[in-house]
Amino acid sequence: MIKLHLQLLKKASLLHIKRNISQTKSIMALTKFEYVKSFEIENKLEALHWVVLSVYCVEHKEFLKQNNVKNGSEIIFRQIMSSVCSDVMEEEKEIALGYAYSNIVHFILKRDTYLFKRREYKLLSNIISRYSSAFIRNWRNFVETPLCKLPTFNGEIILLPQDQCLRDFVTNEQRKCHFINLEETTLRNLVNIAKLSSTEALEKVKNTNEGQKNELLFSLCNINYNNEPVEAKKGAIFLRNSNDCANFIKNEFWESSFPLTQKTEKNFKYDYLSSFKRRNHILPHTFLVVRIDGKGFSKFSATHKFEKPNDRRSLNLMNHAAITVMKKFPIVKLSYGQSDEYSFVIKRFGHGEKEGNSLISRIVSVLTGSFTNYWKDFFSETQLECNPVFDARLVLYPTLESVRDYLSWRQADCHINNMYNTCFWKLVNEKGFSRTSAQEYLKGTFSEDKQRILKEELGFIYSDDEPMFRKGSVIYKDNLSGDNTLVVKHCDIIGPQFWIDNCNLLEEKRVS
Ligand code: GTP
Ligand code: MG
Repeated sequence: MIKLHLQLLKKASLLHIKRNISQTKSIMALTKFEYVKSFEIENKLEALHWVVLSVYCVEHKEFLKQNNVKNGSEIIFRQIMSSVCSDVMEEEKEIALGYAYSNIVHFILKRDTYLFKRREYKLLSNIISRYSSAFIRNWRNFVETPLCKLPTFNGEIILLPQDQCLRDFVTNEQRKCHFINLEETTLRNLVNIAKLSSTEALEKVKNTNEGQKNELLFSLCNINYNNEPVEAKKGAIFLRNSNDCANFIKNEFWESSFPLTQKTEKNFKYDYLSSFKRRNHILPHTFLVVRIDGKGFSKFSATHKFEKPNDRRSLNLMNHAAITVMKKFPIVKLSYGQSDEYSFVIKRFGHGEKEGNSLISRIVSVLTGSFTNYWKDFFSETQLECNPVFDARLVLYPTLESVRDYLSWRQADCHINNMYNTCFWKLVNEKGFSRTSAQEYLKGTFSEDKQRILKEELGFIYSDDEPMFRKGSVIYKDNLSGDNTLVVKHCDIIGPQFWIDNCNLLEEKRVS
């Protein structure tokens, strides 16, 4: 074995000498396209501001109805949210405080957190994604029937400059919780106890104030609102040390449960808070690309014993999750995936999206939800051991050329990684190299060197490798076939032919 290693290492040094200009082609391809990275922005959040990450379940009542949750659906939803909040806070220690009510959860990060270097898209998408997978996994503990319709989560970031703002923000949210719950309790009981129709109940509640709703509940339903469950009236507060349902309005909470550095007081003005919501304006008439990437998939793939270098099950599951995204968001015209990443290209005109945080939240939540929910269909023998998490970023490209270069960059990356990994694992598994010596052996080699090593030393013709491994996956509506179904192809998208065959895919005309 030592002799073989020596021979191979000798050949490696010869390879270095034999390098010529043509051998640098694939690296050139990558560097030629790499300029597209300069379109990416690193929107960092200002230091020493409280970061509030808010997660909203979109149309949660409709979502519960579609999944046939009828009796006590609000209670079940609250229980799932509570459990998900605890899981997320358990996994993400930088969250100092959580607050959940109705279909909303606010996670408040430590004021001085440097998590993900305070990069806005990264912070938001990671938490939303973590929340989505925890939600899907918790669902099974509370509802017997499997999910048939997946939830979508929207997200936003609010950046609060002072302790007083944080106190005002959560106090105001608790007020909203109270108003929503009082209205819903009144409507529900007018139907269930006073036997009014839904329309009659809505009519009765319309334009009533707090006192009048209390009165309706008392006189027509014999219910004293004060006796309603505290978690419904006040929402659920999640602290690191205790989970007491507390009251944000009281000084006590800010003095003992969640002490702040600056002095704060009860304040009854909240309107000013809306100006702290972050808005990442989307330029009109640009192509939008949302790129998703698995978080810590090196560890995730090891935990779940992924095949090396490519696991067909994982790649097919990623493709399935991408199709779920494309069905949910028809504005996505093409998607391209490889390894643990997927890029979604959104058409230029008439997509209607105005704000980046909302867009990346919804897309990453649907992708994560689908990946988690359909895991068992692809990994029948392997239990999902932890929450899969993805991050997302949004990049705006001004021209068709720049989007094409972006996609070429990703496909060139797929090619380079796959060729390296194929060589590496064959050296380790078939030639008995240690991981370090295989790494050393391949150091500095170019594409042609690796093709030759594969052919001459490992008896493998690289072009025979599966197209999905070599080229990644492209999903789009195939115009040539005439129908509108999404197709998954493993074809070249760097050269012109794909774009000639699918000339209308991205290059649409403005309708009005
Ligand atoms: P971050 O994205 O920075 O959080 O790190 P990461 O660990 O996810 O690494 P990165 O995204 O750079 O690369 C993806 C990693 O996922 C690869 O390095 C592999 O370790 C792993 N991976 C993805 N697909 C497969 C697969 O099909 N088989 C195996 N064995 N591993 C895979
Ligand atoms: Mg990754």
